Amino acid sequence: MAVETSYVMVKPIFANEKWVIEEVKSRLKKAGLKIEECGFVHYDKKHARKHYAEHVKKDFYPPLEEYITSNKAYGMIVSGEDAIARIRQMVGSTSNPAKGTIRADIPAKMGIEVQTRENVVHASDSTESAEREIRLFRELLTIEAYKE
Ligand code: RTP
Ligand code: MG
Repeated sequence: MAVETSYVMVKPIFANEKWVIEEVKSRLKKAGLKIEECGFVHYDKKHARKHYAEHVKKDFYPPLEEYITSNKAYGMIVSGEDAIARIRQMVGSTSNPAKGTIRADIPAKMGIEVQTRENVVHASDSTESAEREIRLFRELLTIEAYKE
């Protein structure tokens, strides 16, 4: 096992709910992971395409881009032992997340159905993806700070 850095993002709509952000953070911290940097970012089309580079040609990409650019998201750079795989487990699967995972429990608390496309959070699937996603997150933070 090694210390890894992952990128976790509370997606639009859910990022409007303060308790959702707090619950995701608290689950990460309870697992012994450290939140190194965090903040709201609004993905534009360019950053969405780079973040989801492996999906750009797929048929679900247009609605995915529409969702991810629709409102502010909340990004977090998270580090710890075996962080990438452990966070993916905590997040749960895309279409059928198990009870106890973020993608199952948060919609349940909101009284809504689990959504495959408009799910609650993103988490990096490899160190290479994490590096790319973190670079994009930092770029968005900078652009938004510059605009203010
Ligand atoms: P993410 O990248 O957002 O953490 O999600 P993931 O790894 O669990 O899923 P991935 O396969 O990377 O897909 C990225 C996002 O695309 C949407 N999606 N829709 N069949 C579909 O309709 C479909 N498949 C994927 C979801 O929003 C998913 O989170
Ligand atoms: Mg993915």
